[in-house]
Amino acid sequence: MKVLNPLLLLGASLSSTAVSVSAKAILGVDLGSLYMKVALVQRNSPLEIVTNLHSKRKTEQMVLFDQGSRFYGADASSLMARKPHLTPSQMTILLGRAHDHPSVQVLKERHYHFQPAYNSTRSGVCLTIDNVEFTPEELVAMVLTHAKDITAAYGVTTPLKDCVLTVPSFYTQHERRALLDAAELAELNVLALVNENTAAALHFGIDRIDDKPLNYLFYNMGAGALQVSVVRYLSYPHKATKYAKEKNVGAFEVLGSSWDATLGGASFDARLVEFMADEFNVIWNEKRKTTDKDVRAFPRAMAKLMIQANKVKHVLSANTDIPVFIDALQDDINYQTHISRAKFEEICHDLLERAAKPIEAALKMANVTLDQLDAVEMIGGAMRVPKVQEAVKEALGGNLVLGMHLNSDESMALGAAFHGANVSTSFKVRHVGLADVNPFPIAVDLTDLSVGKEEKKSGGGLFGKKKDDDKKKKKKGGDDDDDEWAKHATIFKLGSKLGVKKTIAFSYDKDVHVEVNYEENDNLPIGTGLSIEQYDVSGIAEFAKEMADKELGTPKVSLQFELDGSGITKLIKAEAVVEETVMVEEEVEVDDEEEKKEETEEKAEEKKDDDAEKEAETETKEDDKKEEKKEEKKKTKTVQKEKKKKHVRALSVNSYHVGTIRPYSPEIMEESKAKLDALAQKDKERIMLEEAKNNYEGYIYYIRNKLIDDEEDVNKVSSEEQREALRKSGEEAEDWMFDEGFTADLKTYEAKYEELSAPAEKVFFRVAELSARPKAIKALTSKLDKVEALMKKWETTMTHITEEERKEVLDKVEEARKWVEEKVAEQEKADQTADPVFTSAEVPGQTKKIESIVGRLTKKPKPKPEKKTETDADKNETTSEGESTESEDLDAKDAESTDEAEEKKEEGKEEEAEEKKDGDEL
Ligand SMILES: *[C@@H]1O[C@H](CO)[C@@H](O)[C@H](O)[C@H]1NC(C)=O
Ligand SMILES: *[C@@H]1O[C@H](CO)[C@@H](O)[C@H](O)[C@H]1NC(C)=O
Ligand SMILES: *[C@@H]1O[C@H](CO)[C@@H](O)[C@H](O)[C@H]1NC(C)=O
Ligand SMILES: *[C@@H]1O[C@H](CO)[C@@H](O)[C@H](O)[C@H]1NC(C)=O
Repeated sequence: MKVLNPLLLLGASLSSTAVSVSAKAILGVDLGSLYMKVALVQRNSPLEIVTNLHSKRKTEQMVLFDQGSRFYGADASSLMARKPHLTPSQMTILLGRAHDHPSVQVLKERHYHFQPAYNSTRSGVCLTIDNVEFTPEELVAMVLTHAKDITAAYGVTTPLKDCVLTVPSFYTQHERRALLDAAELAELNVLALVNENTAAALHFGIDRIDDKPLNYLFYNMGAGALQVSVVRYLSYPHKATKYAKEKNVGAFEVLGSSWDATLGGASFDARLVEFMADEFNVIWNEKRKTTDKDVRAFPRAMAKLMIQANKVKHVLSANTDIPVFIDALQDDINYQTHISRAKFEEICHDLLERAAKPIEAALKMANVTLDQLDAVEMIGGAMRVPKVQEAVKEALGGNLVLGMHLNSDESMALGAAFHGANVSTSFKVRHVGLADVNPFPIAVDLTDLSVGKEEKKSGGGLFGKKKDDDKKKKKKGGDDDDDEWAKHATIFKLGSKLGVKKTIAFSYDKDVHVEVNYEENDNLPIGTGLSIEQYDVSGIAEFAKEMADKELGTPKVSLQFELDGSGITKLIKAEAVVEETVMVEEEVEVDDEEEKKEETEEKAEEKKDDDAEKEAETETKEDDKKEEKKEEKKKTKTVQKEKKKKHVRALSVNSYHVGTIRPYSPEIMEESKAKLDALAQKDKERIMLEEAKNNYEGYIYYIRNKLIDDEEDVNKVSSEEQREALRKSGEEAEDWMFDEGFTADLKTYEAKYEELSAPAEKVFFRVAELSARPKAIKALTSKLDKVEALMKKWETTMTHITEEERKEVLDKVEEARKWVEEKVAEQEKADQTADPVFTSAEVPGQTKKIESIVGRLTKKPKPKPEKKTETDADKNETTSEGESTESEDLDAKDAESTDEAEEKKEEGKEEEAEEKKDGDEL
């Protein structure tokens, strides 16, 4: 492990360089709706974009299913027009949505090649591809797995697990949960979800430290949707740490966001497709003298038009006119036309009118007026359309220059990766504060659990509008019908911050049913199920009874909810408390005033609770209440005092989902995992089969070339028949490959390879041995010569080694020489076209015995010299012979252990650094 530079640790020098204390990598994945971008953060590297197998920085979000195998990115895209019915794309649009969701409806209008259909077992829509049903989660998981694969191919050798994924800001919890399920299927650990504009604003803000707050508008028109966010950049002093003085750090908060979830580049493309289809139909019908021909019925032709439409839109962003020519679009008829920018604007005029609408809404939510806006940044591919820019400029009053400082395609993925490094404990990055905003108000509804259960049995799915009506009826009748207990509270308001916890507290003595719901709101996409999650909270009744038996009051139940940074709401804590008043003798401070103040505070609290009861309304309060610390004082006296003793009970919570669209159940998760594993296995087999085919084909060429290139040597070690057999086996193998081999499986290929290569290898081995044997013998002889020379030298330098001992060595040398002589003679006499008498591999082994004897003799201790003065000389001599004494060995060990100690120290430093990080952030 390396010592970390503390300056680097705090990101003071290189802001976009993350310093990791472990060899980890974190991915930032922007799935987009058409293209996926993958950003990477790893130890001591700057943030970077991962290039895919085709060296491209973005990868098509699609999968091609072809003969049981899957292909991704450009490999899938290049076949899209030919196999549209096997190539699903834009799968993220289907995540967590019903088939009648507006965004899904739009897909259908745009000639999506698949019919998303609801499956009640899955509680979600599915696509049928080649007669197999796939959930959007499965398809997105495939793309995410591909993201891991391209990152590994990019050269990241550490296991890839941690990631941050971007989501549109209008994703509801249903969609976010579905994406998390997809990530789980892809075996990814999602550190956080981050809104696309927020990720872009983060990437834009990494290096910013603004003296005064600045309001930015991010206008992001991507392929699928338009998102607008108002963001405030500011800076604040960051407290001093061990490594750095107090200094200003940058931060930003999202103040408001708005969107048009179905307006994007794809909407313009779709208009062009319709225009071109109509135009082509006219040409077609004229040519064939018909009236009923419609190119829309032909998926391949439509796929061609879609590709063409995208091209037209791009070209018209820079040019005013584009010629279009598609060869034999359908029925052997070419499509030829011109499309002008004016025409484009005419057919898209209503879309263009929608382009500026969300700006006003975002500003309103942010409570920022036009003149309070300091700058605007444009992102997303579709903002390049000139009319879109015009509309934005006009909506902003014409004063602001449209900033285009961000790399539209990549800033979201890069921001996500940076966010991941910040969230992860394995990295330390520059401090950038981030606060995002909640776009949908979220409420909690409480009912008696027994009532709730009955309702569920009879009423089925509590979902959407119907349920809301039910609730209203219930509430109105609440006062008359004293059996019905119900509470309603908004816990996370529209525009509140993400990453907060809220607790609701109420007094009750029965188990409760808790519903977390979206409140009806214009922001909420039409067709969104209102129910987020439901919980049965039990243990209250039992606890209440226990308390009643002790003649204590009704429990106060508190439920803590979290709206986390990823925009996911959940119940995280449920407990019931009963306070018992007991009289105790206590030493209290003499200071009377303080005592009084405390008492009043306590009373005030109780009164508040009562009020809440009376109004039958739930008390909502912020959690971060500070515990007041009592300071101990020296002067005390003993008094009788009322003291509160708390009985606390953790409640048990059972959570579940209702409604037509639900997150994966554990069973479905298992089923999907098995399905994906089977597909992965098939892909792997396909790749192995391809390799086996290549190897087999390669060997055929190898035989052919070897027989020609090494003809002379081959002739030396093979008979004419043997050579003829090799030639024939190669030809037969080639014929087989193009016949049966075309459909043969892996096992067959492996067997055929063995059959082909075994006889050939025998001949080619003999060829190799022709030169390998002499070479080995030469090396052996030279070694033997050296040993002989050493023995000669020892006569004078190593006098303590006896003549017998040296003779033993020399005898063995002689033996080895003899072995070589005999073997060479034998081989010369033998049949050259059969297995050789000996191989080059056997030769080096002949010196093994000799080496071991010499080694032993080298270590033989010298007799101790008599006189001290000679010691030095002796020592010098021994050392020069390369003999290592025991004391030297020990020294070496000491040196090693010092190294270790130093390493430990370094590790210690790193640990300290990490601890420090935790300390800082918490
Ligand atoms: C719905 O999904 C289940 C579970 O994956 C599957 O077994 C079933 O075939 C699907 N239903 C239809 C109608 O395709
Ligand atoms: C909106 O901002 C103005 C100041 O610019 C402030 O006076 C007002 O209270 C804010 N409104 C809300 C609802 O926060
Ligand atoms: C980084 O983490 C800190 C501490 O949790 C948090 O305050 C800050 O907002 C985070 N910033 C980003 C960009 O994630
Ligand atoms: C031993 O070797 C060292 C350096 O090689 C030399 O300086 C020294 O004089 C030598 N001692 C004797 C006694 O030869």
